[in-house]
Amino acid sequence: MRVRFGRRTDLPAIAAIEAASFPHPWPSDLLAAYLDDEGTVVLVAEEGSPIGFLIACRERAAEVPVFHIHDLAVAPPHRRRGAASALLGELMRIAVAERIALLRLEVRIANEAARRFYERWGFRPTRRLGRYYEDGGDALRMELDLHPRQS
Ligand SMILES: CC(C)(COP(=O)(O)OP(=O)(O)OC[C@H]1O[C@@H](n2cnc3c(N)ncnc32)[C@H](O)[C@@H]1OP(=O)(O)O)[C@@H](O)C(=O)NCCC(=O)NCCS
Repeated sequence: MRVRFGRRTDLPAIAAIEAASFPHPWPSDLLAAYLDDEGTVVLVAEEGSPIGFLIACRERAAEVPVFHIHDLAVAPPHRRRGAASALLGELMRIAVAERIALLRLEVRIANEAARRFYERWGFRPTRRLGRYYEDGGDALRMELDLHPRQS
């Protein structure tokens, strides 16, 4: 498996993985906009063809540079084989090179698999967001501080 930057020609594969991964998948045109946006990092894990992807936007919070992970999904037959870990590992490598201080995301409270995944990587819940999703589902904000201060 290798991880590389996503390109416009990955759109059909990314949209198919998105559709197989979420009850309310993002539409293709939104995914295309991320692929076209220079401020967004799109990473693809591939084994001959794409098997997973990650989308993260550069933001600022309280004057601290942040990568906000907007989307992460691995095709169902390829799960539990380290693809998401490889994608997140590459994002962290880029984050360190760019002196990004914090990784942030929102995950559906009911999404045990994703919460376990992020906890395994050291993300900590910082806030519960009530009725965050269109269907009324709650989210958990999770963050990973890349430059923890000594206390
Ligand atoms: C969450 C998701 C991206 C994980 O992808 P993956 O490639 O299977 O993850 P990895 O193989 O790198 O898993 C690493 C670790 O995360 C944890 N983990 C991953 N999936 C898990 C699950 N279903 N249940 C419990 N822990 C899980 C485990 O600790 C795992 O290590 P292990 O396999 O040695 O036990 C994948 O399940 C997915 O695409 N889900 C649907 C989309 C989604 O929910 N995305 C997150 C939106 S915020």
